[in-house]
Amino acid sequence: MHELDHYIYPHRVLHWLVAGAVPLALASGFTIGTLGYERTFDLVGNTFTNLLYTSHKTLGVTILLLMTLRIITRVAFVVPDHDPPLNAFERIVSTSVHHLLYLALIVMPLLGWAATATGGYPIEFFKWHLPGLLGEHPALSSQLYIWHGRIGWAILVLTVLHVAGALFHWRIKCDTVTKRMSLFD
Ligand code: HEM
Ligand code: HEM
Repeated sequence: MHELDHYIYPHRVLHWLVAGAVPLALASGFTIGTLGYERTFDLVGNTFTNLLYTSHKTLGVTILLLMTLRIITRVAFVVPDHDPPLNAFERIVSTSVHHLLYLALIVMPLLGWAATATGGYPIEFFKWHLPGLLGEHPALSSQLYIWHGRIGWAILVLTVLHVAGALFHWRIKCDTVTKRMSLFD
């Protein structure tokens, strides 16, 4: 048993940056994914459509960078013990959801990147264009976009479960779980 009752501060900052970026990436992604380029263009015009695509790609690449840093701060530093300990059910469910979120939030931007590059479109990151790294391959691009959409739904479900779990610990069980990730107490 050690005294630590929080994740280290940089890990908590990374958690909240990702927690802010993921809902924005999901909202912008589902908007462009559902409407498609043409209908988005008809609805909101050229400037806003391009802004939506650029923002979505920029958010996605940013999440990839933040998650890479986050894996480092997770494995390189001590994780606080749960005090009081979680029961077996809570431990299995929370560990599974956390690991699946980590995996999905690495795979998802890589899929978006690969789908975009093989579709022949630019990988936009703020005002820069990053190298696509893959050649044009429209059939592969469509398949990758289908998986980008499916994993998007998985991230949505995992996030809802995760936030419900956090609210349960915070408001119903009133234990110390939420404090572990808090920036303020
Ligand atoms: C964690 C990061 C990301 C999340 C959560 C995310 C989420 C989504 C979602 C939910 C969709 C809608 C899919 C559909 O309804 O078919 C979407 C579409 C899209 N995403 Fe992402 N995305 C991420 C990263 C990226 C990256 C890094 C890129 C490219 C650099 C990208 C490019 C696109 C494009 C171009 C579409 C539109 C696809 C279409 O027109 O069917 N995404 N994204
Ligand atoms: C209101 C929103 C959120 C709240 C209140 C919240 C709260 C928490 C808390 C209290 C923990 C620590 C759990 C523990 O140590 O057992 C945690 C961990 C975690 N959260 Fe969230 N979270 C939120 C949003 C998100 C979002 C949107 C994501 C990503 C989609 C996310 C991903 C994670 C992951 C992967 C962990 C595992 C611990 C780690 O980073 O190593 N969280 N969250």
